[in-house]
Amino acid sequence: MKHLLKMLDLSTEEITEILNLADQLKYELKNGIPHKHLEGKTLGMIFQKSSTRTRVSFETGMYQLGGQPLFLSSKDLQIGRGEPVQDTARVLSRYLSGIMIRTFEQKEVEDLAEYGSIPIINGLTDFAHPCQVLADLMTIREYKNKLDGLKFCFIGDGNNMANSLTVGCLKMGMSVSLACPEGYYPAAEVLEFAKAYGDRFEIVSDPVTAAKNADAVYTDVWASMGQEGEAEKRKIAFRGYQVNDAVMNAAKPDAIVLHCLPAHREEEITEKVFEAHANEIFDEAENRLHAQKAVMVLLMK
Ligand code: CP
Ligand code: NVA
Repeated sequence: MKHLLKMLDLSTEEITEILNLADQLKYELKNGIPHKHLEGKTLGMIFQKSSTRTRVSFETGMYQLGGQPLFLSSKDLQIGRGEPVQDTARVLSRYLSGIMIRTFEQKEVEDLAEYGSIPIINGLTDFAHPCQVLADLMTIREYKNKLDGLKFCFIGDGNNMANSLTVGCLKMGMSVSLACPEGYYPAAEVLEFAKAYGDRFEIVSDPVTAAKNADAVYTDVWASMGQEGEAEKRKIAFRGYQVNDAVMNAAKPDAIVLHCLPAHREEEITEKVFEAHANEIFDEAENRLHAQKAVMVLLMK
């Protein structure tokens, strides 16, 4: 593994290696065992979109590993004034040990990896959010002690989360049921990938059908960053695509609920379901830290 650009690039063995190291690093942090694997290393963090979890977990994670994080707002970088990503990649490769980038187009992240000579980590694009999915898989494994053979259900927009979760869960031996309104399906290359998994993958229109006997139920906002202008239209398109009591009654009685956050209560998830599953959701948020530390160690040590 040279970069973390999207789940499609990772093998089942690589995902397992990341999850195992994440568990170990979590144990070491909780038990005060030093794990300064990245002493003297620097991580540049480029943000073209807002962030709470990604920024704070990468910054803290890098510090805990003995390295130095640098927050680089695109407003301040020359990239925000049009300096090509090809040049930015080659310049930053001369200073830094790695780059985490949150941006719009997946191509920008792929270009950074192509033109630079240091590891690139995708901290969310319109297409993918692999860091979140690694934390999600880690959380499901913590609660269920396995991934293989579980049923995963996603309700809502076929967005960056749905794309990455579909690929990650299928690669880890889970079956995946999506409930998405027509016109809001995952990306074509994800659907093509999923086709090879036969009846382990389905897209349905009814959320209750998708949730039947699910071990983990997931949802995300109806309008992602960059889609604020479509928010009203999306509220109409997604009406009913909500994780609520009816959905949870269809899932297994011990099903967990996950949400990448930020959440919009009473839109994609009811307040009641959110609060009933808050422990799982905030464990998931915490696991961003551990999963990303594992990725940084594997890429930058
Ligand atoms: N889930 C997630 O990536 O959160 P932030 O947008 O706060 O980083
Ligand atoms: N789909 C959301 C995820 C946020 C973590 C977005 O892209 O805004």
